[in-house]
Amino acid sequence: MATEKPAGLFAAAALSIALVSYLLFSHQTSAILPWRKAPRKCPRRKRKERRGLVEAIGNTPLIRINSLSDATGCEILGKAEFLNPGGSIKDRVAVKIIEEALESGALVEGGIVTEGSAGSTAISLATVAPAYGCKCHVVIPDDAAAEKAQIIEALGANVERVRPVSITHRDHFVNVARRRALEANKLAAKLGEASEIKDNGMSKDYSKGGFFADQFENLANFRAHYEGTGPEIWEQTEGNLDAFVAAAGTGGTVAGVSRYLKEKNPNVKCFLIDPPGSGLFNRVTRGVLYTKEEAEGRRLKNPFDTITEGIGINRLTKNFLMADLDGAYRGTDKEAVEMSRYLLKNDGLFIGSSSAMNCIGAVRAARALGPGHTIVTILCDSGIRHLSKFYNTQYLTDLGLAPNATALEFLDHP
Ligand SMILES: Cc1ncc(COP(=O)(O)O)c(C=O)c1O
Repeated sequence: MATEKPAGLFAAAALSIALVSYLLFSHQTSAILPWRKAPRKCPRRKRKERRGLVEAIGNTPLIRINSLSDATGCEILGKAEFLNPGGSIKDRVAVKIIEEALESGALVEGGIVTEGSAGSTAISLATVAPAYGCKCHVVIPDDAAAEKAQIIEALGANVERVRPVSITHRDHFVNVARRRALEANKLAAKLGEASEIKDNGMSKDYSKGGFFADQFENLANFRAHYEGTGPEIWEQTEGNLDAFVAAAGTGGTVAGVSRYLKEKNPNVKCFLIDPPGSGLFNRVTRGVLYTKEEAEGRRLKNPFDTITEGIGINRLTKNFLMADLDGAYRGTDKEAVEMSRYLLKNDGLFIGSSSAMNCIGAVRAARALGPGHTIVTILCDSGIRHLSKFYNTQYLTDLGLAPNATALEFLDHP
């Protein structure tokens, strides 16, 4: 009897402790202990599909360019495309070109994307192609800046250097790139499923066929901006913008964005800013592109008389023809150099030459519209891509373009 009592007490105590612990830590506690929040019954959340590197492309910030906004009394906003993983706005285009080609079957996994470009598009294609299981072959003129070819090669793309000739010549780098894709397709057809590849002089890389990206004429370029850049600008400004301005290389950006914005609100003014040597200003303002003598086919080399890179052209591309523009401005190389240094000093923005030209366009538009307006432009790439020329003082001094402005006075005499 004497041993039964403590055992019963012990059992009762253990039961009480278990009950209190259950109440304290079970889901029921919130009813008894109101300071504890009842856990929400979570429906099984569908896991978000993650797509790797390509997911980091686009959705770039829209930055207020403080110095230009304060100087003009307008809100001047720059879309920070230099923050894309491949370093420029062309990442969007590379993704769209590859995705559309894979969808249509024009490109297959393991195939090779070819492009004739010494610039941002080649770097973006070389960056993005591996994410789709594809390879990249870039044809560049052999006078292109050495560091660009180095970057493209370092990214794992094949780089083929050719002599610079006119676009009408069969060996112009764009035409060679087109040919390489055709050659790859012929080889792939010959090899069938490519289980046994004979070394016939062409690399194994070509055995799955090729696809010519063709950024100038491929409207996937336009669509990248119509479906991506344009809607992002609209959402980021909540539709409160008065003007958009950008320079054109292929014309994809200015066309895609202007078309989208005009469809949302026809009152949004869209402008081109054109560098020296380009015929697009004339085309927009007077309806003619160039005189007979100025046509690209008549020039042997360096058809553009500008140090800005990636912008200016003397032929009408399918992409540019999609643009919906209200007008055009001209910008000079000196203005672009001065603008880049001004933004560096006042805003901490280290941008490339085409972005500097775009900012000149934004100030011209701000001055034309007057204070109180919101103007959006594009910051296409970073100054890091432009160290050997645009940010090289000796190079600029030799051309009489060394910066010496102290404020925005360099824009006073267009
Ligand atoms: C650095 C840079 N900025 C601007 C552009 C012009 O953009 P788009 O080709 O969409 O006209 C390019 C085109 O190659 C570029 O490389």
